Amino acid sequence: MKILVIGSGGREHALAWRLAQSEKVQKVWVAPGNAGTAREPGVENFPASAPATLAEFARREKIGLTVVGPEAPLAEGVVDLFRSRGLRIFGPTRACARLESSKEFSKDFMQRHGIPTAAYRAFSVAAPAHEYLRTRSAPVVVKADGLAAGKGVVVAGSLEEAHRAVDRMLVQASLGAAGSRVVIEDFLEGEEASFIVMCDGREVLPLATSQDHKRLLDGDAGPNTGGMGAYSPAPVVTPEVHARVMREVILPAVNGMAEAGTPYTGFLYAGLMIHEGAPRVLEFNCRLGDPETQPILMRLKSDLYELLDCAVEGRLAGAQAQWDRRVALAVVLAARGYPDAPRGGDEITGLPEPGEDLHVFHAGSARRDGRLVTSGGRVLSVTALGDSVRLAQRRAYEAIEAIGFQGMQFRRDIGHQAVNARSR
Ligand code: AMP
Ligand code: GLY
Repeated sequence: MKILVIGSGGREHALAWRLAQSEKVQKVWVAPGNAGTAREPGVENFPASAPATLAEFARREKIGLTVVGPEAPLAEGVVDLFRSRGLRIFGPTRACARLESSKEFSKDFMQRHGIPTAAYRAFSVAAPAHEYLRTRSAPVVVKADGLAAGKGVVVAGSLEEAHRAVDRMLVQASLGAAGSRVVIEDFLEGEEASFIVMCDGREVLPLATSQDHKRLLDGDAGPNTGGMGAYSPAPVVTPEVHARVMREVILPAVNGMAEAGTPYTGFLYAGLMIHEGAPRVLEFNCRLGDPETQPILMRLKSDLYELLDCAVEGRLAGAQAQWDRRVALAVVLAARGYPDAPRGGDEITGLPEPGEDLHVFHAGSARRDGRLVTSGGRVLSVTALGDSVRLAQRRAYEAIEAIGFQGMQFRRDIGHQAVNARSR
C-alpha cells in the first residue's frame, strides 16, 4: 500500500514516520513535505499542494490512502474532491471542516447540541459589537470567525482592549475576510487540554490525551503561537474528566454532525478548558494538533495504518489503540522572529541520531546547496519518551543542547503543568 500525507509540518513528519513503520505500507509520500520527511526511511516528498494536483498524483501513483494534516486543504474541500474521484482519503469534508473554519458555525452548533462552551454572540458590524461588549466584563475574548493561522484570537484583559480588537477586525479589516465577522465570548478559567479522536462518521476512537503550550515564552507569557511544545498524557484529563468529555462533548458533536446529514469523518480535536473537573470547549479543530501529534504518535504502539483503514472503512467500532505507558514530550525549536516575522536561511547543526526514545520531527526546514537550513517559523520538534515527565523533559532538553541555528527560540518549561500535577 502506498500512502500520501498532505502537509509540511512536524505533525505530517510524525504521521509519515509512523505510517512508514507499518508492515502494510510500502511507501509514504508527503506533499510538499520538508527536509526531515525527505530523509525519513520509507518516505519521499512530492512538491505540490494544490488539491487537484494531489488528486491526479494519487490516481497516477495508485495511492491507497491519503491522510490530510492541516486545516486549509480541508476547508478548501480536498476530501470532497478525492472522494468524487473515487480516491480513499481520511479527513472531514468541507461541510464538516466548518467546525474549525467558522467559529460562529462551531459555536452555534455547540449551542444547538448542548455542548458546554462559553456564552457568546457573533457580529459583522462594529456598533452592536461594542454595545454587546458594554454588557460584558473583562477579561473577554474576541475571535475572528474565519481561519487566521493562530492570529485570530484576542484574550483581552480590559474592555478597552476588546473594543480595539473589534475595531481592528471589523473596521480596519486587519485579518481580511477571516475577520469580517467576529465572535465575542466570555473568558473561561481553568487548565487547557487537547482531546483528539478518530472518527468514521458514527464511531470514535479517542487518541491519548495531550496538552499544548501556546504562548511563546516560559511561564505561559508572550504572544500566542501555533504551539511551542506539547506532552502526552495530560494529567488534568483524569478518567472521570475523560468520560465527561466523551459524553458531553465528543458524542454529541459526532451525533449532531450525523443528524445534520454531514457525518464527521477524520480527526476531531476539541480544545478544552477544564475547571474543577468540568470540561468546556474553547474550539473545535478538524485535524490533529501540531505539536500534539508528535508526542501522541511517539506513544502509539498500534499500527497507525490499520487504525486509519478501520476509520476509512467505517469499522472503528471495536478498534483499540495501544499506548506506550511512558510520557512523551515535544519541545519546538522556532526561528528568530517567530511568530511575527520568522527568518529563514540559517544553518541547522547538531541534529541527534533518532533513537527508540527520541525523534526530531522537522517543520520549517529545507536543504539548500547541501546544507540544512531554517525555512519557516517552527523549525523542529524534539520529541522524547521517558518514564516520567521529568525524564522525558531531560531527554528532550539534553538533545537540544547539541542542536543550533542562529536565533533559535524555545521554551525551557514544556511540561511544567504535568510536573506540578504530579508533585501536588
Ligand atoms: P482558540 O484558537 O479558540 O483555541 O483560542 C486560542 C487560545 O486562546 C486558546 O488556546 C486559549 O488559551 C485562549 N482562549 C480562547 N478562548 C478562550 C476563552 N473563552 N477563555 C479563555 N481563554 C480562551
Ligand atoms: N497546537 C494547537 C493546534 O494544533 O491547533
